[in-house]
Amino acid sequence: MFNFKVKEVLRAKRLNKNTYHLYVRWDEKPPVGTFFMVWLPGFEAIPLSVSGWYRGAVRFTIQVRGPTTKALFWATKVGLMGPLGREAPPPLGKPTLVAGGIGIAPLLYMYEEWGGTLLYGGRSAKDLIPVEGAIISTDDGSKGKKGTVLDLLEEVGAKRDIYACGPPAMLKALGQMSREKDLRGYGSTETMVKCGMGICGACAISKRLLCKEPWIPLREI
Ligand SMILES: Cc1cc2nc3c(=O)[nH]c(=O)nc-3n(C[C@H](O)[C@H](O)[C@H](O)COP(=O)(O)OP(=O)(O)OC[C@H]3O[C@@H](n4cnc5c(N)ncnc54)[C@H](O)[C@@H]3O)c2cc1C
Ligand code: FES
Repeated sequence: MFNFKVKEVLRAKRLNKNTYHLYVRWDEKPPVGTFFMVWLPGFEAIPLSVSGWYRGAVRFTIQVRGPTTKALFWATKVGLMGPLGREAPPPLGKPTLVAGGIGIAPLLYMYEEWGGTLLYGGRSAKDLIPVEGAIISTDDGSKGKKGTVLDLLEEVGAKRDIYACGPPAMLKALGQMSREKDLRGYGSTETMVKCGMGICGACAISKRLLCKEPWIPLREI
């Protein structure tokens, strides 16, 4: 059932204490907004968003949480199944990208492909990764504006072509804000992904299977 391709890890680059980029050989450009199931023998296969693609290498941006995300930093080969999900619907104009925490991963790819404005929020300066051109917020005010990334969104006043990725609480608040303020766009968040192929039902969220439809219209979240 699972069709993993064994691929060479080309480079791992540490970005902060808990986060790194992992570059894995992959020849075809993956669609923006998709993800792969990444399998390291001896560990569970885990879902990771495509955060970039460079001349034959797919990039993942990984936050260390548990055994698999820790071990992948040292991997020399991994099994990749994908790209999975669906391409994010492209923007009509310049998008506003709203990233909370490790939700920055798929938005980095959008930012590189589409441009626009990138709003990036974290708890504290030490939790952020360096992203050139991003407008920053931190909960404790240690970098950028003190507050949440949704405060930044209110400040820039974007109404259309909003793409957001972050923790479930952030997406829930943004869904509410979108209904109140008539905001249009798409959001994605984390759920448990097991099969990645629409079979097991583990990833159900907002009446959808996230592994098949990772980008949900904001007002339906
Ligand atoms: C579509 C999708 C894309 C993702 N993209 C990224 C990404 O680009 N970068 C990144 O750092 N993380 C991403 N994640 C989260 C990542 O999959 C988890 O951090 C990872 O599975 C943790 O595995 P672990 O063995 O290190 O930790 P564990 O100790 O196994 O788990 C730590 C926590 O991670 C979450 N988790 C564990 N297994 C899964 C799973 N199968 N599916 C979803 N969440 C899980 C749970 O909240 C759990 O409590 C994504 C998740 C989804 C659903
Ligand atoms: S992860 Fe199995 S249906 Fe989505």
